Amino acid sequence: MAKQILVTGGTGYIGSHTVVELQERGFDVVIVDNLSNSQIEVLDNIEKITGIRPAFEQFDLSERDLTDAFFKKYSDIAAIIHFAAFKAVGESVQKPLEYYRNNMGSLMNLLECMNKYQVPHMVFSSSCTVYGQPDVLPVTEQTPRKEAESPYGNTKAICEDIMRDYCKANEAINCIALRYFNPIGAHPTALIGELPVGVPNNLVPFITQTAAGLRDELSIFGDDYDTEDGTAIRDYINVVDLAKAHVVAIDRMLNGKSKDNYEYFNVGTGSGYSVMQLVKAFIKVTGVNLNYKIVDRRAGDIEKIWADTTYGNNELGWKAEKTLEETLASAWAWEKNVRGLK
Ligand code: UD1
Repeated sequence: MAKQILVTGGTGYIGSHTVVELQERGFDVVIVDNLSNSQIEVLDNIEKITGIRPAFEQFDLSERDLTDAFFKKYSDIAAIIHFAAFKAVGESVQKPLEYYRNNMGSLMNLLECMNKYQVPHMVFSSSCTVYGQPDVLPVTEQTPRKEAESPYGNTKAICEDIMRDYCKANEAINCIALRYFNPIGAHPTALIGELPVGVPNNLVPFITQTAAGLRDELSIFGDDYDTEDGTAIRDYINVVDLAKAHVVAIDRMLNGKSKDNYEYFNVGTGSGYSVMQLVKAFIKVTGVNLNYKIVDRRAGDIEKIWADTTYGNNELGWKAEKTLEETLASAWAWEKNVRGLK
């Protein structure tokens, strides 16, 4: 029988792409999402891609009783992929308690249920934000973490520590934290993708919405960084490549390949691109003109970061495969689909 995987936040951006990859690998998926930042219609689009409608339960995982009742009802879950979390950096500065309560509360409820209901494995969404501005680039898994720049970033660091400590105390529990660099792009079918509510905070959705005419122009935050063209550098990873990293992490745990019952991996491409390089690549790939202007740096932004992916590539047997060009093309195809553009 197909193994059942719980995907929390499975109607969200990275979650929905991961559900598709899991289903295509023969896993049975159940999604839990409170729909606070995603739409129920995502289920229809997942079904269009894979032909399978995932089971779905709508509730908030920071509610302990509801989480417990869920595990009573679904007694065959083999592993969890935990995406459900608040993720807006700026908002987290305004509402720190909501971020701590939600992000840490839901993780702790899940860990408790893993023990109680004997669900041994979890993959957790962490972020390269835990490295801050590293002193040495690229960053390996040995690069020291730095103090977080925001409550959001701090929830990722604290959640990692909670998992580490819980795994130490509970030998039967097995967790893998994946430290994502910058996920971008959309599924090649253009049926699922990133759909931010309101004005996008992140670069690529802002670019595609500007190209689609929803925004007048892109603001490039700073051109006086110590980089070749003065704009900040990130490691942009295709969301389907990223989704596949979750499937290999699940396989690693289910097949008993973990070297320790708490592990963490960088998930990036190993290449850094500047904001200006990304904007130019987008214009070249899509042939769409993009209005942009240079403005001041954004508070809290780091100058440059990209991953050393050697350890993850070797241990997981996984590598990012898609080019920046095809990834940007997929982001644009998705935006056009959402807006009904040709
Ligand atoms: C941000 C978060 C990071 C989080 C990630 C989730 C910060 C400091 N970091 O990463 O912790 O895990 O989102 O997706 O917010 N840019 C512009 N104009 C824009 C938007 C962005 O120039 O309108 C620039 C930024 O200054 C940055 C780059 O584009 O240099 C990428 O920005 P963004 O997509 O927001 O991601 P991060 O800030 O790297």
